[in-house]
Amino acid sequence: MKKIVILGATSGIAVEVERVLARQGNELLLVGRSVQRLAELQADLLIRGAKSVATYAADLASIQQHAVVFDFVRRILPGYDTVLLAYGSMRDQKESETSVDVLLDELQVNFVSATAILTLVAADLEQRRTGCIAAITSVAGDRGRRSNYIYGSAKGALSLFLQGLRSRLHPAGVRVITIKPGPVQTSMTDPMPNSARFADPEQVARDIVRALERRSPDVLYTPRIWRYIMSGVRQIPETIFKRLSF
Ligand SMILES: NC(=O)c1ccc[n+]([C@@H]2O[C@H](COP(=O)([O-])OP(=O)(O)OC[C@H]3O[C@@H](n4cnc5c(N)ncnc54)[C@H](OP(=O)(O)O)[C@@H]3O)[C@@H](O)[C@H]2O)c1
Repeated sequence: MKKIVILGATSGIAVEVERVLARQGNELLLVGRSVQRLAELQADLLIRGAKSVATYAADLASIQQHAVVFDFVRRILPGYDTVLLAYGSMRDQKESETSVDVLLDELQVNFVSATAILTLVAADLEQRRTGCIAAITSVAGDRGRRSNYIYGSAKGALSLFLQGLRSRLHPAGVRVITIKPGPVQTSMTDPMPNSARFADPEQVARDIVRALERRSPDVLYTPRIWRYIMSGVRQIPETIFKRLSF
């Protein structure tokens, strides 16, 4: 792992990942929406030891922009070996239930656009027969819950997409890692009650970097305890689960 592309580079979790990758002297290409935030990150990561940091401002939820973004990636960081997809959105569940526009936006950001950009990356790496694709989904995608099934269904669909992609790319030697964090302290969860008790993004970032280095496991639960929690949650019979209000 030396040349890494981060899609959604301004996310709280992604920033912590980038700090570790910079300390290791990697070459980074950051894609995000905010020109100013990307410039600040670039300066910070170079000070922290990154060999090079390129940036590109684009809204990845807009599929029309993908071809240009991907062209930039191939020109500026030829031979890139790792792509981490980190952007995502968790709007208020009630809003998504009552507005079809909000619902479709959530699916567009978290699922549709993610599969579109990863399809471009997959074709390139498959042809080069090397590399690693990692994408952040969520434990919320493991089971549809009353309180966040719209976000959860988009993440669950993305996890399923990654599972199939992993199998497709296996013969070409390209690794696909599904990253499923439990609740993490970032701006996404700031408004939630008890968010101070959520996982530290630095800990989650260390787990992600280790997985990127090893190109393993296929599915990373982080922090690790969430593998066991979700294993238990998946066992609850539907007839009981549908009565739970969380
Ligand atoms: N925090 C958690 O508890 C948790 C748990 C499980 C999974 N995750 C997932 O982890 C990933 C990173 O999230 P985070 O916790 O680091 O949250 P975050 O700091 O709020 O970052 C979210 C990122 O997604 C981008 N984004 C948001 N809405 C977008 C839109 N409509 N179009 C394009 N980009 C958009 C944001 O860009 P701007 O900076 O331009 O706003 C930002 O880079 C997400 O996929 C999230 O779903 C988070």
